[in-house]
Amino acid sequence: MSDLAVLGGKPVRERAFTAWPVFGAREEELALEVLRSGHWWRYTHGEALDAGAAESAAPSKVAEFQGRFAAAHGSKYGIACVNGTAALEVALRALGVGNGDEVIVPPYTFIATATAPMLIGATPVFCDIDISTFNLDPARLEAAITPRTKAILPVHFAGLAADMGAIGAIAARHGIPVLEDAAHGHGGSWCGRPLGSIGVAATFSFQASKNMTAGEGGLITTGNAELAEICESLVWVGRKVGRPWYEHHRLGWNYRMTEFQAALLIAQLERLGEQTARRQKNGSYLSACLRDIPGILPLDVPDYATGHAWHIYVLRFDAAEFGVSREVFLKALTAEGIPASSGYAHPLYRNPVFEGTEWAECPASEQACREAVWMEHRLLLGDEHDMDDIAQAVQKVWAHRRELA
Ligand SMILES: Cc1ncc(COP(=O)(O)O)c(C=O)c1O
Repeated sequence: MSDLAVLGGKPVRERAFTAWPVFGAREEELALEVLRSGHWWRYTHGEALDAGAAESAAPSKVAEFQGRFAAAHGSKYGIACVNGTAALEVALRALGVGNGDEVIVPPYTFIATATAPMLIGATPVFCDIDISTFNLDPARLEAAITPRTKAILPVHFAGLAADMGAIGAIAARHGIPVLEDAAHGHGGSWCGRPLGSIGVAATFSFQASKNMTAGEGGLITTGNAELAEICESLVWVGRKVGRPWYEHHRLGWNYRMTEFQAALLIAQLERLGEQTARRQKNGSYLSACLRDIPGILPLDVPDYATGHAWHIYVLRFDAAEFGVSREVFLKALTAEGIPASSGYAHPLYRNPVFEGTEWAECPASEQACREAVWMEHRLLLGDEHDMDDIAQAVQKVWAHRRELA
């Protein structure tokens, strides 16, 4: 019998990895506080964004969370909302993106990065990624800019900072704002600056898989007071601070975060620093352990990516070099007790929603979809022994690859 678990052998690992979400007494305390207060939505406490007096009389968890999250991410303003998809839509609308405009996006990301512009009448223009980082490739950016380009929307994919220096320089030359999709970026940094504080605005997600979560949730960060006010109005059905309750100034929507979500997120934010440090230590250690295995290519972490948020541990799998297909490898690895997946099956433009639209194939994104292996960030929340188990399992599958052919 083979040693490989997939062929009946004993798995490298039989213990579960850290479960996600991580939560405890603090989440319970804050959620119960909201429950017992009866203040379940923010505006119970006052009608205005700047209604400091009303909110300090009956503090709002949403107001507290917005402030604390923005400060922790180097931004003056935070506008909480229902999810990261809505955050993208609101931020784009606040930037004035609308009918007939173009927004440059990478095709290797979650669908919302491209469909948020579509929802407001704009067209996503796909700009390929750099295969060594899976982030938008600045070398291809200029060619994607047209007179209709209204925003550039790079993603800090998997928590690795996009090349914001190069992207920012091109954007500045053309006078186009950069909106960061920081859905994976909590606690990460670029050149020492927090992700979410580099572009004119940024959007975050607190959906269940993210590095901080309330099941669902989103937030926009910005240092621009005017943008902040527009965003707040848009998530508040077009209301305006200081104006009557039933007076609506913009075509806004009800995208408000609840006090329950904010309660959980305050507790999650308090865990973020320690968890990010742990993910960083384990992520770097794991890459060092895997680097010499043929066909296993951990992604580059450029010098400008000073703080990787490690939302996903991503590597490239070279099937020819390793000796089996990615699908066979993933099956064997998972059988060894290491959960891993192949991520996006195809670049965004191949989704049926883009049928009938014009797009050019992006070769690096196609390659990323063929080669990627993803592991969830929770695997990085354990200790070095957990990383040793992952490395040992990959090594074991490689050593026995011929039995899988
Ligand atoms: C890169 C990226 N952008 C945006 C989103 C949208 O966030 P949400 O799921 O909170 O709507 C996600 C979520 O998966 C994402 O991965």
